[in-house]
Amino acid sequence: MNEKQMVGEKAAEYIKDGMVVGLGTGSTAYYTIKKLGELVRNGLNITGIPTSEQTAKLAVEQGITLVDFKDVKQIDVAIDGADEFDTNLNLIKGGGGALLREKIIGNAASTFIVIADSSKGAEKLGAFPLPVEIVKFGSEMTSRKIAELGCEPILRLNGNRPFITDNGNYILDCDFKQIDSPDELELQLNMIPGVVENGLFVNMAKRLITIENGELVEKTR
Ligand code: A5P
Repeated sequence: MNEKQMVGEKAAEYIKDGMVVGLGTGSTAYYTIKKLGELVRNGLNITGIPTSEQTAKLAVEQGITLVDFKDVKQIDVAIDGADEFDTNLNLIKGGGGALLREKIIGNAASTFIVIADSSKGAEKLGAFPLPVEIVKFGSEMTSRKIAELGCEPILRLNGNRPFITDNGNYILDCDFKQIDSPDELELQLNMIPGVVENGLFVNMAKRLITIENGELVEKTR
């Protein structure tokens, strides 16, 4: 079993009957959703809120009933992957472009569990270029304003066209090299008009499930 499968399936153990579950996006969350599908087929009674169109499709294929925000008051547990995590369980997310919905759902969840293979750990965040979702209008200006914070934003492409998020926006990948104050940078970025959201998830993850020396390890905050 690969590391993504190990951590992804482990997280499914936290899901109990009756829960509303935030379903993450990416190649690690894939294994959680597959496992939850198996459990649902064996009688587990849950509903899911997907963080992307891709996840919605997978969840439906797996037989997981989806609900909308208008139907639920709270999300019990959200399970999602990460592109990087630090020692305080702060994260960089958005490598797959789903950061906005992931942040709305992670923030709304009573418990946010992050699942990440051993390659994702870092002393400080920043080696992974930070994804920032911006509106199309004025995108060049928004990009210049972001650059003033200390990076060279690169417009994410899909082939030779801009990558478009599920929300109809662009993504800028912003290589800050090392992020000393994720909480400050998160606020500074979101103050720039045109920025919809950024991929810094600060003080959100309550539990990390990862691998150290080939073994499952869990850390809480
Ligand atoms: C999606 O936008 C991302 O935030 C993913 O959760 C993150 O990129 C982790 O993806 P993998 O599990 O595929 O590494």
